Amino acid sequence: MKTIVVAGGTGLIGKRLVNLLRNSGYKVNVLSRKPLLQGEYRWDPREGVIDESAIADASVFINLSGAGIADEKWTHNRKLYLQQSRVGTNVFLYSIREKMPKLEQFICASGINAYGFKDPSKTYIEDDPYGGDFVSQLVKGWELSAEQFQPDVKVATVRTAVVLDGNGGALQKMVPIVKKGIGSALGSGDQMMPWIHAEDLVKIYLHIIEHQLEGPYNALAAASSNKEFMESIAKVLHKPFWFPKVPAFVMRMMYGEMSIILLNGVKASNEKIIKTGFHFQHPNLDEALEETLQ
Ligand SMILES: NC(=O)c1ccc[n+]([C@@H]2O[C@H](COP(=O)([O-])OP(=O)(O)OC[C@H]3O[C@@H](n4cnc5c(N)ncnc54)[C@H](OP(=O)(O)O)[C@@H]3O)[C@@H](O)[C@H]2O)c1
Repeated sequence: MKTIVVAGGTGLIGKRLVNLLRNSGYKVNVLSRKPLLQGEYRWDPREGVIDESAIADASVFINLSGAGIADEKWTHNRKLYLQQSRVGTNVFLYSIREKMPKLEQFICASGINAYGFKDPSKTYIEDDPYGGDFVSQLVKGWELSAEQFQPDVKVATVRTAVVLDGNGGALQKMVPIVKKGIGSALGSGDQMMPWIHAEDLVKIYLHIIEHQLEGPYNALAAASSNKEFMESIAKVLHKPFWFPKVPAFVMRMMYGEMSIILLNGVKASNEKIIKTGFHFQHPNLDEALEETLQ
């Protein structure tokens, strides 16, 4: 039985992924800064601390760790923290590479905002260059720090879109507003929002493991405009959708530089993962939201 280690396995994606991997017959060890459950082991990448018994038999390492990108305003210190929690964890893991002698594959979470927001009409593919804004550069550092494990270990990065999950993430912030009947589009509402149902996302991780894939993969089912997305939530929840759009300047005042990820969007292609034989179970937004919010 292969051992898979999942750092950040206590989070929204992590919990679902750990269940799927265990149900698929893998032994899974979770790394957490606050281990509580059986199968969870302590690490603290900032302190350089790790329970070596968790990683000694690892064939596959999945790193999902990262402080929430949209949780706080991007002050100078917050930006450093966001970087440390991603790039810093990969750098730490590579520094203890010799403690994982059986390691075959290293898979790292990443973001669909890799490409920046230069050309809203373009559909980006994995070979396109990174953007120049803070998030794109954060993604670049995150992926380059994962690539240190090459070439003797296969490295894959999962460029993740907005994850649809009823238990948290972006929907948890949007749904209460729509439920109050005051859901509306942000800025122009035309900016594209790539999204993926959580179930499809964790199946992409499993697919990458079972097909020994490497390289970056865009993980999105589709991209809808921000207005379509908010309207679809309202439709699924049987709520009205008439409220005026939130003007861009208000968003900038409220969120500062972070408003860039709310007011701008990116279209990206999912052809690369589909060509490897992956099938999306939830390719339709209304259906995916219906399933998530039921
Ligand atoms: N959800 C999305 O829509 C989405 C979209 C694009 C990309 N992603 C990326 O996918 C990954 C997983 O996302 P998620 O939604 O599952 O996130 P999550 O629920 O916030 O979980 C992330 C996990 O990372 C660990 N963590 C948090 N801060 C950390 C720090 N400073 N140092 C080390 N570990 C830290 C936490 O584990 P412990 O507290 O147990 O240590 C936490 O369980 C993240 O890197 C995220 O950026 C998510």
